[in-house]
Amino acid sequence: MNPPLDVAVIGCGRIGRIHAENLVTRIAGARLVAVADIIEDCARQVAAQYRVPTATGDYHELLADKTIHAVVICSSTDTHSRIIQEAAAAGKHIFCEKPIDYDLARIHAALSAVEKAGVKLQIGFNRRFDPSFARVRELVSGGAIGQPHIIRITSRDPEPPSLEYIKVSGGMFLDMTIHDFDMVRFLSGSEAEEIYAIGDSLIDRSIRDAGDVDTAIVTMRLKSGALATIDNSFKAVYGYDQRIEVFGSKGSASAANQTPDNHMLMDAAGVHRAKPLYFFLERYTEAYVREMRGFVDAVLKNEPPPVTGEAGLQAVVMGLAATLSLKEGRPVKLAEIS
Ligand SMILES: NC(=O)c1ccc[n+]([C@@H]2O[C@H](COP(=O)([O-])OP(=O)(O)OC[C@H]3O[C@@H](n4cnc5c(N)ncnc54)[C@H](O)[C@@H]3O)[C@@H](O)[C@H]2O)c1
Repeated sequence: MNPPLDVAVIGCGRIGRIHAENLVTRIAGARLVAVADIIEDCARQVAAQYRVPTATGDYHELLADKTIHAVVICSSTDTHSRIIQEAAAAGKHIFCEKPIDYDLARIHAALSAVEKAGVKLQIGFNRRFDPSFARVRELVSGGAIGQPHIIRITSRDPEPPSLEYIKVSGGMFLDMTIHDFDMVRFLSGSEAEEIYAIGDSLIDRSIRDAGDVDTAIVTMRLKSGALATIDNSFKAVYGYDQRIEVFGSKGSASAANQTPDNHMLMDAAGVHRAKPLYFFLERYTEAYVREMRGFVDAVLKNEPPPVTGEAGLQAVVMGLAATLSLKEGRPVKLAEIS
C-alpha cells in the first residue's frame, strides 16, 4: 500500500471548505495536513473544524514544506495561474479550481511550468464526475445514440452572484459557462470550431452596469459536425437547473435535474414535486468527492489526471470566443482566439 498523500488546501472559502471536508472524511489515501487563506482566520476556522495540524495566512509556507506532496488551489481566480507556477516550481502536484486564468499567455506559462516540473495538474471540472453526466458520456462514446447531432445544455443558477463577485469574475462565460463549455467537449468528444453568443441583463440592470450579462444563449458548431447549444441564467426561481441532452442518429441520452426526494403531490391545483437541489454545493456533492478521488489516485498511481490542463485551456478559449462574439455581435472561429 502507498503511504498517504499529504495535501494542503489553499483558499478556504466556499469551494475550499468542500474539498477540505472531502479530503478529511471521504478520500482514502489522502491526508489533509495544512490549509492556507490570505484571511488567516478562515484558515484557522477550517483547521479547527477538521483537525488540520497547520493553518497559515501565507501559502508560501506550505509550498516550502517538503513533506507536502500536493496542493488544492481554491483561492480566487486571479491567483490561480501564479500559484500553479509557484507550486510546480516547488515540486507539488496540483489540483486547481476552474478557470486557470482569463489570460491565455498566463495559462500557457502555468502549463509550461507544470510540464517542466513534471508534476500532475488537474482542473476542477467537477461536472464530469457527476454519475448521471458521466453515464451519458459513456453511452454517447459507446455509440448508444449513434452519431451525435445536437448537444443541449441548460445551466441556470438559483441566484445571481454579488456585484463584487461579478466585477472580478471575468464575466459569465469565463466563470459560469466555462463548466458548460467543458461539458460540450466532454459529451461530444469534439472541439468547437465556431461560437456565437447572445446575452443581456434581463434580471438586474446593475449586472450590465458591472459589465456582464445575466442571461445568455451560446450556440456552436463542433469540428465533428455536431451542433451545440447552452442556455444560461443567473436566476431560476425554482432552483439550480442543470440538464443535458445528446441527440444523435440512433436516439438521445439525457440527464434531468435532481431533487432532494422524489415525492409527488397531486391535488386540485396541479401536480407538485420537489424543486431541484438548491445550488452547486448540494447538486454536485458526489461529483466533488469523485473528482478529488480521481486526482489522488492519479498521483498515487502515477497516472494522467482525469481532467488535464489542456481541458482547462480549451474551455477558456471557448469562453474568450463567446465573450468576443457577444461584444462584436458575430460568430467567432476558435482559431481567431488560439
Ligand atoms: N468547481 C466548482 O464547482 C466551483 C464552485 C465555486 C467556485 N469555484 C472556483 O473556486 C475559486 C474560489 O471560489 P469560491 O466561491 O470558493 O470563492 P470564495 O471567495 O468563497 O473563497 C476564496 C478564498 O480564497 C482566499 N484567497 C484569496 N486570495 C488568496 C491568496 N492569495 N492566498 C490564499 N487565499 C486566498 C479568500 O480569502 C477566500 O477565503 C474560484 O476560482 C471559483 O471560480 C469552483
